[in-house]
Amino acid sequence: MSFSRPDKFPTVNADEMVIFKNFSTHLWEGKVPLHPLNNLRIPWIVDGIAEAGLISKDKVGSSKPLEGLKILDVECGGVIVSEALSGYGCTVVGIDPCTDMIHVAKQHMALNPSLTNITYINETIEEYSEKHFEEYDAVIVTEVIDHVDEPDLFLDLCCRCLKPGGPIFVTTFNKTWDCLVHSNHRLGIYSWRNT
Ligand SMILES: C[S@@+](CC[C@H](N)C(=O)[O-])C[C@H]1O[C@@H](n2cnc3c(N)ncnc32)[C@H](O)[C@@H]1O
Repeated sequence: MSFSRPDKFPTVNADEMVIFKNFSTHLWEGKVPLHPLNNLRIPWIVDGIAEAGLISKDKVGSSKPLEGLKILDVECGGVIVSEALSGYGCTVVGIDPCTDMIHVAKQHMALNPSLTNITYINETIEEYSEKHFEEYDAVIVTEVIDHVDEPDLFLDLCCRCLKPGGPIFVTTFNKTWDCLVHSNHRLGIYSWRNT
């Protein structure tokens, strides 16, 4: 996919795409700081989905609390979140504009035959949101917002895919000076409802 036309894909930064293309092969080598974040991200998402009333709160501790839900993982990258969520019983669609990231995602999914409820698609949010208006129960945007151009537009397009009233979950590293000086990234987590 070529991103030399910012007018067509205004949220995609071509330089970032090169970085992620080179990064994709290292994703499952165990050195990437994204994997441990799931200990915080996944329970927060499941709890948030219950808070939004999409599942009952007593279902949260069950083996498949998200069964029956359709979730969009925008910029699924190395599938770290998509695979984890699919284990909770929902159907997940992961999209990412980086072809190499989607390739790695599909390769990793093939290692686990029980992962039958995930679909990976190599598309931008600009393309995908055109075709999937108000289709998803929840939308996930983890560790992406700091890599996109025009973040307001990016989030608007994500929300287009959400059913009215559905929750969107956004996480990003905290980049305050204090945080950088101490090399101690903290996670900023935000969710709100599509109205
Ligand atoms: C740090 S990874 C996060 C992966 C995954 N969401 C997670 O948290 O484990 C960032 C992902 O965002 C994608 N990305 C970067 N810039 C983007 C943009 N402008 N629009 C859409 N996706 C972008 C990259 O291809 C990469 O897969």
